[in-house]
Amino acid sequence: MVIFGATGDLTQRKLIPALFHLFQKKVLPPHFYIVGFSRRPYTSEDFKEFLEQAIKKFHQHNFSESQWHEFIGKCYYQQGNFSEVRGYIDLIEKLNEFDELLSSCVPRFFYLATPPDNYPEILKYLHSTKLSEGCGQGSDKWTKIMIEKPFGKSLDDAQKLDRKLAQFFNEEQIYRIDHYLGKEAVQNILAFRFANSIFDPVWNNKYIDHVQVTIAETLGVETRGNFFEGIGTLRDMAQSHLLELMTAITMPEPQRFDAVGIRNARSRSIKEIICLKPSEVKSRTVRGQYGLSSSKLVAGYREEPNVNPKSNTETFVALKLFTTDGLWDRVPFYLRTGKRLARKATEISVIFKEPKLKMLGRGEKEIVANTLTFRIEPNEGIDLSLNAKRVGFERVFKQIPLSFSYDKTDGVLPESYEKLLVDVMRGDQTLFTRTDEVQASWKLISRISEGWQEENDLRFPNYAAGSWGPKAAEELIQKDGREWLLR
Ligand code: BG6
Repeated sequence: MVIFGATGDLTQRKLIPALFHLFQKKVLPPHFYIVGFSRRPYTSEDFKEFLEQAIKKFHQHNFSESQWHEFIGKCYYQQGNFSEVRGYIDLIEKLNEFDELLSSCVPRFFYLATPPDNYPEILKYLHSTKLSEGCGQGSDKWTKIMIEKPFGKSLDDAQKLDRKLAQFFNEEQIYRIDHYLGKEAVQNILAFRFANSIFDPVWNNKYIDHVQVTIAETLGVETRGNFFEGIGTLRDMAQSHLLELMTAITMPEPQRFDAVGIRNARSRSIKEIICLKPSEVKSRTVRGQYGLSSSKLVAGYREEPNVNPKSNTETFVALKLFTTDGLWDRVPFYLRTGKRLARKATEISVIFKEPKLKMLGRGEKEIVANTLTFRIEPNEGIDLSLNAKRVGFERVFKQIPLSFSYDKTDGVLPESYEKLLVDVMRGDQTLFTRTDEVQASWKLISRISEGWQEENDLRFPNYAAGSWGPKAAEELIQKDGREWLLR
């Protein structure tokens, strides 16, 4: 596996810990090598040292020095500038050495973990040096390419990138990553919905009042100021993760439970989300940027490293969306995500309508709408809140939760990147976004960012680090007589 952008945040925080876990679980093939490709003038020894720092910081459980030692022996470094051919030529030599060592055509995975601006030049050189053609530069079945989100920065960009990819790779070789699809609790939404027939009859606008999706992070931009300045939360989180979580609720039952069937159903649902008209952008979207925390201890976004002190990049987004799918007609989906919020939590809540026949007499006020919550993380699980009679002589109600939490005896849940890396090796594209799906989400997002460009009354920062985001995000849902549930 060649990781382009190997000294970046993603490699440290997600990829190396995931690869090491897979190695510990003996899921990686015995002859698996990792080559980091980046601009920094590192030797392979420096790179190993760098990875060691990362693993100490981000590895979560069962660390073993001896296993790490064995794993790190499989890691190499290739210094190179993404826009100069030299590094790619040296890379060919390095990869040829593995082929010679194993007397075999070693399958090659190229992982693009750089900012999207670098994708076109990397693709150009992968092609011109024939690296894209695999072992011996002539057997394309042995190469696969993994591309991190954001897949471009706009619809136009995404289309150009796809055209370029299609020139050099077949669709079966392309793995577009949205790591939320690999999360265990997200995969479980489909299992839960389609393996339990009790939900199907009520999964529509007759019974469901609205849906809320929240991805709240406590982290700020950390060391990613450079990357984030050109992107913002709308492109970084909403275009991919938020919309995919919405689709997990709206997508119809796939006709086939395989990669084709599931991707068809998912992409159909994304295409059905209604794009906002320019006149709707102001009333149906909210953007925010964090400022100094109320304790004054946590810096605002504009004070972060590599961030323009006058930056208008958003770190928070809230949206109210609808879909054309008749089953969901007039059901609002409230979505929000932000950095430096009050706690780290991702949840989807399906809020049902209030019972039609409110029981007469005392206690009816205590009957509240049923809510089904998918806890994506932390404490992965599912809660269903029900109304029940309190014990006693009066007809008084209380809410009782039915809860499912992952059985800890099943072990620690696999990290999403572990699942995705295994699927790439197996050649299973189910959890990877397809080109039509990505383009549909960009269409929606580009409309919003175009609408935002027209606004000239932006007052950033507009929420304190450690809060629940801008006041306008509360108003977005309150004006419909509803409240965000996740606090
Ligand atoms: C990434 C974004 O895709 O997801 C980051 O680029 C964000 O900005 C991260 O922090 C959140 O992922 P998770 O799995 O920690 O919720």
